[in-house]
Amino acid sequence: MQHTANTLENQWMPFTANRDFKADPRLVVKGKGINYTNHHGDNIIDGSSGLFCCAAGHGRQEIADAVSQQLMELDFSPHFQIGSPPSFELASRVSALTPDNMNNVFFTNSGSESIDSALKIAMAYYSARGESCRSRFVSRERAYHGANIGGTSLSGLMKNRQTFGSLMPGVVHMRHTWSPNARFVRGQPELGAKLAEDLQRFCELLGGGNIAACFVEPIAGSTGCLVPPIGYLERLREICDIHGILLVFDEVITGFGRTGKAFASQTFGVTPDMITLAKALTNGVLPMGAVVVKDEIYDTIIEAAPDGVIDFFHGYTYSGNPASCAASLATLNIYEKENLFQRGADLSEYFLDCVFDLEDITAVTDIRGYGLFAGIDLAVDGAPGVAGTKALKALFEAGLHIKFTGDTAVMAPPLIATKNDIDNVVGILREVLTS
Ligand SMILES: Cc1ncc(COP(=O)(O)O)c(C=O)c1O
Repeated sequence: MQHTANTLENQWMPFTANRDFKADPRLVVKGKGINYTNHHGDNIIDGSSGLFCCAAGHGRQEIADAVSQQLMELDFSPHFQIGSPPSFELASRVSALTPDNMNNVFFTNSGSESIDSALKIAMAYYSARGESCRSRFVSRERAYHGANIGGTSLSGLMKNRQTFGSLMPGVVHMRHTWSPNARFVRGQPELGAKLAEDLQRFCELLGGGNIAACFVEPIAGSTGCLVPPIGYLERLREICDIHGILLVFDEVITGFGRTGKAFASQTFGVTPDMITLAKALTNGVLPMGAVVVKDEIYDTIIEAAPDGVIDFFHGYTYSGNPASCAASLATLNIYEKENLFQRGADLSEYFLDCVFDLEDITAVTDIRGYGLFAGIDLAVDGAPGVAGTKALKALFEAGLHIKFTGDTAVMAPPLIATKNDIDNVVGILREVLTS
């Protein structure tokens, strides 16, 4: 069956070369399991879970039924000073998955909103403690924390920042952890923990008591799967503890089984003070994000408010939206029933074997990977981004969707993938990258 939109003219597409796209569009019109169908009816394997969202695969009946039922039961409720059951149920389910002392869930509608909410929670926490001098934030080069102004300020990707002026004041960036000496290293690089000392140097330069929070993705995701060196996250935790700085793990990509456990904080054995979530929280089917907050932060902010007065002047019309909560509850049921986090962990070795086999291809300059997550760097072709865009198009044409950032392919197959699916994904990659 052919599907064609009437016109492509009126939508300004996000993070897209609009002129180029509209001249030769790539449209997906169906999704089932690990596969999309494009508008010509061709099969496109989903090698990146959409945008790292659809961990349980596409077209899940259980989620569709739960959303439909919820919409007929209660379609919308305000969540300012009034509540509805699904968001409370979901908050309990999410906090049961996160580390022990993280029992407080603030709902948002995206990863970007989760990051901006986490920034404001850090500000509110230190305000409640009478430490408003803590106005600085530490992030990292090559970080991606979404597209809102807060997240763009934390961003360590030049292209995402350069158009937007000076952004939020008071943000400094540690060095990224990629090293040319650790190319083609699978899992955590042995060297590089000392890069965590950048945080200590900021404490010495700015005063540790002036820093509110340090934001990191446990595995830097969008930039192409930079796995933390052994000891790196542990050292960040130590430095944060010494100086009373909040450690925020942005698990928008790494959450929900991508690294073999529910969250990368559990995989790497380092507990942050806040975790930001989105994407696979609802299997990507409805927009939703969350910030999960350590008890001490929640208690401090709540207890600082006078009786009957709103404790945190922040929230979104759709925070805890019933249909999104229903989608998420059904998604969490699937993860549990199908033991998908363990399934991802079990498939990881095979996946990484296959991906690292691509090392011999001339165009491939580095491969990194952990869990069901991998980054493949391609040699620059003239200007940065040219090789990546060419590869993205050729792969799509050959029947494979892979998300690219610049010249890096970012692979994250759904957790339901089979060995056969991985063979197909890597087979297309080899064919296209060698041609
Ligand atoms: C680590 C991280 N944080 C935040 C975001 C932003 O999420 P969203 O696009 O849902 O706003 C992303 C998106 O890819 C991400 O990878």
